[in-house]
Amino acid sequence: METIVFATNNPNKIREVQQLLGSNYQFLSLEEVGCMEELPETSPTLEGNALEKARHLYHHYHHDCFSEDTGLEVEALNGAPGVITARYAGPERDARLNMQKLLRELGPHTNRKARFRTVIALIINGKEYLFEGIVNGSISHELQGEDGFGYDPVFIPEGENRTFAQMSKEEKNAVSHRGRAIAKLQDFLKKQLHHG
Ligand code: IMP
Repeated sequence: METIVFATNNPNKIREVQQLLGSNYQFLSLEEVGCMEELPETSPTLEGNALEKARHLYHHYHHDCFSEDTGLEVEALNGAPGVITARYAGPERDARLNMQKLLRELGPHTNRKARFRTVIALIINGKEYLFEGIVNGSISHELQGEDGFGYDPVFIPEGENRTFAQMSKEEKNAVSHRGRAIAKLQDFLKKQLHHG
C-alpha cells in the first residue's frame, strides 16, 4: 500500500480522505512522520503557499505528500481576504473577529459575490501537481447558523439560501471548495494506481 503524508494534524481531515480513498493509500499526519515545526507559508498566493508547504515536507522528510491552502475571495474587495483569510482580523486567527471585519468592510458594497478556493499541492516521486476546488457564492448580511467553522456562518453557496453553517456536513462537503479539490486529487490518485 502506498503511503502519503497529508500536511495536517487535523484527525477529521485525515479520516475524510482516508474514507474517500479506501484501502489503496494510507495517509499519515505531520505528527506521524515526526514533523513538529510549523510549515512555511510566505507566498502571496494560495498556489505558492501550498507548494511551499509540500516542498518543505518532501525535502525534509523524503516522503510523497500533499498540502492544501484555502482562501475566501470577495469580489468587491478585489479578492481579499484571499491568502490572509485565516489572519484577516489579526494573528489570533479568531473566526468571529474575521467575520465581523468582513461584514464591516463589505458594508458599503451591494455586490456581495465571493468564492472559496482550495489549492492542493501534491508531490509524488519528486513531481509536483496542483488541484483546485472552487465554490461560488455570496456573503450574507449577518451571521446565520451554528455548525461548521471559519467563515461558514456568512457564506451562502450558489443556488442555496442557507449559509454553510446551516447545512449538514454532508451537504457542505458535496459542494465545498475542499470537497471539490479532494475529489480531483482522488481521481488523479486512482488513475496513478492504474497507470503508475
Ligand atoms: P486553511 O488553508 O484550511 O487553513 O484555511 C484558511 C482559512 O480559511 C481558515 O482559517 C478559515 O478561516 C477559512 N476557511 C477554510 N475553509 C473554510 C470553510 O470550509 N468554511 C469556512 N471557512 C473556511
